[in-house]
Amino acid sequence: MDKGMAFPAPKHAKKRVQSIQLGLVLLAVCSYSLTYLLWPNSRTENLPINTESIIAQCSALHLTPGPPDNFRERSQSDRFEQGTRPTLIHNATIWTGRHDGKEVIRGDIIIDKGLIKQLGSFDLRAYGSNVDIVDAAGAWVTPGIVDLHSHLGVDSSPALRGASDTNSLKGLTLPWLRSLDGLNTHDDAYRLSISGGVTTANVLPGSADAIGGQAFVIKLRPTKERSSSAMLLEPPYSLNGTHVDPFARPRWRQMKHACGENPSRVYAGTRMDTQWAFRQAYNTARIIKEKQDAYCAKALAGQWTGLGDFPEDLQWEALVDVLRGRVKVQNHCYEGVDIDGMVRLTNEFKFSIAAFHHAHEAYMVPDLIKKAYGTTPAVAIFATAARYKREAFRGSEFAPRILADNGLDVVMKSDHPVLNSRHLVYEAQQAHYFGLPENLALASVTSTPARIMGQDHRIGRLIEGFDADVVLWDSHPLALGATPKQVWIDGIAQISEPFVSSKPSSAQHAPATPNWEQEIKDAIKYEGLPPLEPTKAEAPVVVFRNVGSLFVKHKQTRTVTEVFSATATGQDSVVVVEDGEIVCSGVLACPDALTRANVLEIDLEGGSISPGLLTYGSPLGLVHISGERSTNDGPVFDVLGGVPPLIDGTLIKAADGLLFASRDAYIGYRNGVTSGVTAPSGGFLSGLSTVFRTDAAHKLVDGAVAQEVAALHVRLSLNSAVSVSTQIAALRGLLLGAGERKDDVGKRFTHVVEGKIPLVVEVENADIIASVLALKKEVEAAQGNAIRLTLSGATEAHLLAKEIGEAGVGVIVQQRPFPSTWQERRILPGPPLTQDSAIATLVAHNVTVGIAAGEVATVRNTRFDAAWAGLESDGVLKKADVIALASSNLETLLGVEVPDADLVATKGGSGFEGKVVAIISPRSKKVNLV
Ligand SMILES: *[C@@H]1O[C@H](CO)[C@@H](O)[C@H](O)[C@H]1NC(C)=O
Ligand SMILES: *[C@@H]1O[C@H](CO)[C@@H](O)[C@H](O)[C@H]1NC(C)=O
Ligand SMILES: *[C@@H]1O[C@H](CO)[C@@H](O)[C@H](O)[C@H]1NC(C)=O
Repeated sequence: MDKGMAFPAPKHAKKRVQSIQLGLVLLAVCSYSLTYLLWPNSRTENLPINTESIIAQCSALHLTPGPPDNFRERSQSDRFEQGTRPTLIHNATIWTGRHDGKEVIRGDIIIDKGLIKQLGSFDLRAYGSNVDIVDAAGAWVTPGIVDLHSHLGVDSSPALRGASDTNSLKGLTLPWLRSLDGLNTHDDAYRLSISGGVTTANVLPGSADAIGGQAFVIKLRPTKERSSSAMLLEPPYSLNGTHVDPFARPRWRQMKHACGENPSRVYAGTRMDTQWAFRQAYNTARIIKEKQDAYCAKALAGQWTGLGDFPEDLQWEALVDVLRGRVKVQNHCYEGVDIDGMVRLTNEFKFSIAAFHHAHEAYMVPDLIKKAYGTTPAVAIFATAARYKREAFRGSEFAPRILADNGLDVVMKSDHPVLNSRHLVYEAQQAHYFGLPENLALASVTSTPARIMGQDHRIGRLIEGFDADVVLWDSHPLALGATPKQVWIDGIAQISEPFVSSKPSSAQHAPATPNWEQEIKDAIKYEGLPPLEPTKAEAPVVVFRNVGSLFVKHKQTRTVTEVFSATATGQDSVVVVEDGEIVCSGVLACPDALTRANVLEIDLEGGSISPGLLTYGSPLGLVHISGERSTNDGPVFDVLGGVPPLIDGTLIKAADGLLFASRDAYIGYRNGVTSGVTAPSGGFLSGLSTVFRTDAAHKLVDGAVAQEVAALHVRLSLNSAVSVSTQIAALRGLLLGAGERKDDVGKRFTHVVEGKIPLVVEVENADIIASVLALKKEVEAAQGNAIRLTLSGATEAHLLAKEIGEAGVGVIVQQRPFPSTWQERRILPGPPLTQDSAIATLVAHNVTVGIAAGEVATVRNTRFDAAWAGLESDGVLKKADVIALASSNLETLLGVEVPDADLVATKGGSGFEGKVVAIISPRSKKVNLV
C-alpha cells in the first residue's frame, strides 16, 4: 500500500457519507426557503439545479484510487471471455510472488472464469471432463510478465511512416493526450511478446515532451471485440463517460513525464526550459485544484451564493488528478541532475512519482530519490543497455542490486520496441546474474511493476482470485534462454502449438551466479566509470585448476574442437600456461607445474577455457557514445544518395577511423570478446572492414589493428533514397566493370570477383537476397571465379535457406530476430512459436552461420547470445558449434586471415553461472586478468 494513501472507507461508512450529504442538501434547500419566506424582498441567489451532482463530485474529490471493497469477492473477471474452458495446471513448481517473492508451492493451479480459482493439490478426478488438464511435470510456473514501460502498439512493428503514434510535437506539456488513441491492435509484436511470457504492458507516450500524455495498461491478448479499448485493464471510469457511481473509488491513471535530454533536444531548449515547462504546467493544475477545493468547501457547507460552476478544465484535469494522488507518474529521467529537478518539483507541488524510468544514475543517488514527495519512486531500468548517450554513460550492470540494497523498488522494463519486450525476462535474468537476489529479480518483472502501476490487487502474483495470467516455463525463468511452454491471459491459452524443449535438469534451478562484491563497490566508488583496462598476470606460469572443459580453434581447419571435458567430479583437470601458451593440459595431468615456484594458480571451479570471441555487426571500434556525434567516427557518404563523394574512386577504410579504448570495447574484452570486425557505418558502398583488438589502448599498440582490410561491404535496403533495382544495378556495374576501373574501387572489386576477399552484403529482405544470389551467379558466369559472399543482417534468410546453402553463401544474423521494419518482417521467431530457430534452420542447410551484435552495448553479451542459440537449436548445435558461431565462423565469413588465438578462462559453470577471469594471449605472450 502506498505511503500516505487512505484506505477505502467501508461500505456502511459510505452510506453514512451519503446521508450526511443529503442532510446538507436539505439544510441548504431549507435555509434558502426560510430566507425567502422571512425576507421575501431580500436579494436572492439561485440554488444550482445540479446541487446533488456537485455535492457528489465534491465529496468524491478526496477518494484515492483502488479496487472496490468487494473486489476480492468477484467470481468472474470483467475480462472473462464467454466460452473459455477451465484449465488445471497439474504438478507445477509455482513461484507465487507472495512473501517478498520467496514463496514456492509445488502443486496444481485451477483457472476458470478468467481467475485463479485454486492453488494447491487437488484430486484430478473431481474435475471430470469439463476441464483442460496440462501436466507441468514439475516445471516452473510464474505470474505473467508485466512490463511497466512499453510503446507496444503505438510505436509500431514493423515501423511504418503512417503508424508512429508515440510522440506528439505540439507542445512540451500535453497531459491531455492519451496513448490509447494510437493503440493499434494489429502490431506484429503482441504475439511475439506474449510468446516471451508478457501478459500486461503499460503503454506510455514517448519522451519527446516533458509531459507526453496519459498512459494505459493493456493486456496483450487479442479480444473478441478486436478494439483498442477492449485491451485495457481497468481503464479510468472517466475514459468513456460511464462514471456510474460517484462514491466508488476511482481507478488508477498513468501519466508519462520525461526530463533531461529528450524534451530539451526536441524543443531546441535546455534542461532549464524543460523544468520551467513542468513548473508552469503544475502551477496551472495547482490553481485549478485550489479553486475546486475552495468551491467544494463552500458547496459542502451549503454556501451556494455566487458559487457558479465547478471549476474545471478538460485539458488540465489529468494533471489536477496527479495533484490529487490519483495518477501513477511514470517519469523517464536518467541523470542525477534531472532526478534532483524532479524531486524538487514533487516537493514544490506535492505529488508523487511512481517510478523513475531509465534512471541510469539512480543507483548513485538513492538518498536523493527518497526525498521525493510522498511515495518513494521505484526505479525502472535496463539491465546492460547503457552508454548510448551521456545520460546513460555511467550506467552500471550492478544498478539493480545497488538499488535493492538501498531499499528501493527495482523494475526491469523493455521500453519496447527499444528492447523487444518478448525478452523482458532476459533483463531480469541479467539483473540476477549481476547480483539482484532471485526473489527480487522475478519480482522486478511481475509483482513489483504490477504494484507500481497500481494493479497489484489482480496481477503480478499468483493468488486465488487474481487474474488468470500464468506462464509455464521450460526451465527456471532466470536460466538463460528460459522459454514459455504456454502462456495464459485471462485464463485463455495463447500458444496454439506447444514446442518440444529438452533442457537439462540443471536448467530447472536458478543459476548460481558469480560473486561481484568488488565490482559493486567499484561501480559506486568510481560513479559508474571504474577502470576497465586488463592487468597482466605477473607470474610467467599460470596454472588453471578445476577446468571443466578446454576448447581450442584450429588454425588450418578453422574449426573449434573440444580437447577435454572433465565429467567425473573431484578429478582435478589442469591447464598450464607459460608465456601465453598452453604447455600442458589434461585430467590429473602436469604434476610438475604445480610444484614450480612463481606460479599463479586460478581455480576455475569447473569453468571452461575456450577461444576468444569475435564481434561484428555493431559499430564497436568506431564509436564511444553512439548518440553523441562528437564521440564517433561518423557516417559514410551515400554515393547513391546524391551526395557528391569528395574522394572519388577510393573506398573508405574502417581502419582509418578506428577509435580505441571505448568502454564497450573493454567491457567486451572482459566478457571474452577479444577482437572485432567493423565496417564503415552506413551508405550503399560502406567500404572496407578492419580487424581490431578490443583490449588495445590505441592504434599503434602492437597488434591493435590485426588486419587492415578484411572484407568489402555494401548495403542493399528498401529504406534507401534510391530503388533497390538501382542499388543492384550499381552493384552489378561495380562487379562486372571492376577490371576496367583503374582506381581503388576497381582494385577492391577485382579482389572480390577473384575471390580474394569476401563481399559482405548487408541485406534483410528475402526478395533482395534472391536478387543477390542471382547476381552472384551472373557475375561468376561472366568472370569464371567463385565469389565469397556473406549476407549480413539477413533476417529473412531462413526463407531461402536451401538456396543459400546450395550457393555456398554464408550468413551473419542476430540471435533474436525482430520485425523492426517491413524488409525484416518475415522472421522465423523460434521457440515457442516455431520449433526451429532461424539459426538452426540455416545450419541444417549447411550454411556457415555467424552471429552479430546489434549494438555496441550488447557486444558484452556475445557469449550469452551464442549459448542461447545453442539452447534454441534443441541439440543441433553442440558446444563447439556454439563457440564457432561467434568465432571461427565469423572469421571465415568476414575474411579474417589469421585467426585470433586468444583463449578465455571462465570461472564457474556455463551461461549465467560463469564469470570471465582471464584471457590467455599467445600473440602477446601473457595472461591478462580481468
Ligand atoms: C511431478 O513431476 C515430476 C517430474 O516429472 C515427477 O517426478 C513427479 O512424480 C510428479 N508428481 C506428481 C504428483 O505427479
Ligand atoms: C466504458 O468502460 C467500462 C469499463 O471501464 C465498460 O464496462 C463500459 O462498457 C464502457 N462503456 C462503453 C459505452 O463503452
Ligand atoms: C549438408 O552436408 C552434409 C555433408 O556434406 C550432407 O550429407 C547433407 O546432405 C547436406 N545437407 C543439405 C540440406 O544440403
